[in-house]
Amino acid sequence: MTDQQTYNYTVVRQFAIMTIVWGIVGMAVGVLIAAQLAWPVLNFDIPWLTFGRLRPLHTNAVIFAFGGSALFATSYYVVQRTCHVRLISDKLAAFTFWGWQLIILSAAITLPLGITTSKEYAELEWPIDILITLVWVAYAVVFFGTIIKRKIPHIYVANWFYGAFIITVAVLHIFNSAAIPVSLFKSYSAYAGVQDAMIQWWYGHNAVGFFLTAGFLGMMYYFVPKQAQRPVYSYRLSVVHFWALIFTYIWAGPHHLHYTALPDWTQSLGMVMSLILLAPSWGGMINGIMTLSGAWEKLRTDPVLRLLIVSISFYGMSTFEGPMMAIKTVNALSHYTDWTIGHVHSGALGWVALISMGSMYYLIPRMFNRELYSLKLVEVHFWTATIGIVLYITSMWVAGIMQGLMWRATNADGTLTYSFVESVQAMHPYYIVRFFGGAFFLVGSLVMAWNIWKTIAGAKPAVGIIPAPAAAH
Ligand code: HEM
Ligand code: HEM
Repeated sequence: MTDQQTYNYTVVRQFAIMTIVWGIVGMAVGVLIAAQLAWPVLNFDIPWLTFGRLRPLHTNAVIFAFGGSALFATSYYVVQRTCHVRLISDKLAAFTFWGWQLIILSAAITLPLGITTSKEYAELEWPIDILITLVWVAYAVVFFGTIIKRKIPHIYVANWFYGAFIITVAVLHIFNSAAIPVSLFKSYSAYAGVQDAMIQWWYGHNAVGFFLTAGFLGMMYYFVPKQAQRPVYSYRLSVVHFWALIFTYIWAGPHHLHYTALPDWTQSLGMVMSLILLAPSWGGMINGIMTLSGAWEKLRTDPVLRLLIVSISFYGMSTFEGPMMAIKTVNALSHYTDWTIGHVHSGALGWVALISMGSMYYLIPRMFNRELYSLKLVEVHFWTATIGIVLYITSMWVAGIMQGLMWRATNADGTLTYSFVESVQAMHPYYIVRFFGGAFFLVGSLVMAWNIWKTIAGAKPAVGIIPAPAAAH
């Protein structure tokens, strides 16, 4: 029997293709809202095209549609290959695919119409939330069911990260989305005031920690060793990394609520836990990058590996910056400014998007039994994406720090030196640079889509790319 028959690759293929599709849609909306900030006429005075409505469409599309599809595709692939069994149920797996696409479609319709709970990253209204719960439970059954019937006694570390991501996102979603519906499209949160804020940012931060980090670390622990053809640098460190990371992340949410009505001790706890988080994050980064030790020369010849390793470097950079921004005095400057947006995108573009794209370059040719169409085009993608990220994040750092400093500048008589409008005006050139940064990144993604299209449509023989035995054994 071939691998194609032994394993359920249909669902992996479907999610992998949708990763590319939703990535382009979500990033195109990102480029549009970046342009709107630079040139407000692009709002066209049409309600469903305004920045306020498209911004949540962007975040939902890139995080849940693009990132989510990449996580489904890779977790279904990795769990089968490392457990040496087929997914426990093809039907349930298909339900997760079609259910997830339906959720994305519902988001794409309701958000531009202005239907929203107004909770960031949890904007979707209650009927969609219920569908998310059903799909997520099915996902957990498929993933953990497959682990239970595994043929290999050991559970490879990537599965621990995917498993933590699945369980934690379930808990976060259920608690944060608790609401009282008043009509089909309107509900009120079950929490009020400061409790609402605390629950929301406990959710929000762990959406970062578990949706945008833990699952992607699962990707790192499988695809980096595979592409480098080396074992993980330290398996022991990966286990320490896992437990330290999941224990620490869950406490850090209050750093989003510094200087608010939240009790002071809670803010300090959030700050301290964020500082501690630097250690496990860097432990993971070092483990990922050092997997290349003794094989550094591969970086020169393999652009896919370069994409993966650069993504881990951005992971290290954003997890250094995050703890710094969590320090209350630093946050007093950075909060409300574009520094936060720069931080977000060094994590989102640098880490989440690049590790997903690197993994897709490994995965998709294998799923379709084809040789990758062009390594040259991967090289082009790598450089356009990297230049795009650098333009995006440096412009936002400069803009953000300038904004913060302008807002706090005072004259000798105690009056404000700058009006708010002056700070908005000062942002204009940086918004234009960010727009070009985003456009570069999008062009890179289009190059990838073309390369993948030619790979699937082409007839290049698949010799030499049949997956080697699973990473764990
Ligand atoms: C050790 C790890 C990290 C820590 C301690 C951390 C800390 C922080 C802090 C202090 C803020 C600003 C909060 C505010 O002033 O409102 C922030 C915002 C944010 N971070 Fe991080 N960060 C980390 C890693 C990451 C990574 C890897 C990503 C992305 C993949 C990320 C995504 C975000 C997002 C999306 C926000 C914006 C949230 C919002 O206000 O909507 N962070 N982070
Ligand atoms: C072509 C690429 C992209 C462009 C041009 C872009 C642009 C933007 C813009 C203009 C905003 C609004 C900033 C503001 O309100 O001032 C934004 C917000 C955001 N984007 Fe992107 N983006 C891109 C890719 C991504 C990706 C791949 C992700 C995640 C994987 C992501 C996650 C986010 C998040 C979480 C926010 C909200 C940040 C916050 O509230 O602090 N973006 N993006």
